[in-house]
Amino acid sequence: MRVTFMKRIAIYPGSFDPVTHGHLDILERGLKLFDKIIVAILINPGKKALFTVQERIEMLEACLEPFPNVEIDTFDGLLVDYAGQKKAHAVLRGMRAVSDFEYEFQMALMNRKLNREIQTVFLMTGLRWIFTSSSIIKEAAQFGGDIEDMVPPLVCKRLKEKFKKTP
Ligand code: PNS
Repeated sequence: MRVTFMKRIAIYPGSFDPVTHGHLDILERGLKLFDKIIVAILINPGKKALFTVQERIEMLEACLEPFPNVEIDTFDGLLVDYAGQKKAHAVLRGMRAVSDFEYEFQMALMNRKLNREIQTVFLMTGLRWIFTSSSIIKEAAQFGGDIEDMVPPLVCKRLKEKFKKTP
């Protein structure tokens, strides 16, 4: 009998504007389940971002250096199509509080309708990061709030620089 082992590849999609400790926590735990994770930034000209895609890639590259088996990429169009191109079988998402549930549930079901071969896997966000999000961190940083323990040091520095330029 010939046994073929397939690499378990997951896509971890998002805006990552910017990457937070919450994202890194999900990624680190996701790597215990998958052989490889592709962190995929959605290119979405319709959504106003604070950081350019290139800036987001740079921050991710620096923060993900210690993680083996992680690739950083960008995509546009349908997530399930991209996952198919990458030969991934799963989409990894973090779930924080109940407030995330409706959106995530809707998205997972839509993705399932579009391609039944792609499974969505949710990991509960670590308790420490349950109340954080890129959006709320950006808002706090904009008004000089202390966000140092919520993002990696490089991201903290970049946020401070960004808001110094655009008060
Ligand atoms: O970090 P975000 O902004 O919550 O990530 C949202 C993302 C990128 C996962 C989602 O918007 C997405 O997958 N967009 C791609 C378009 C798509 O496939 N839409 C159909 C499923 S809802």
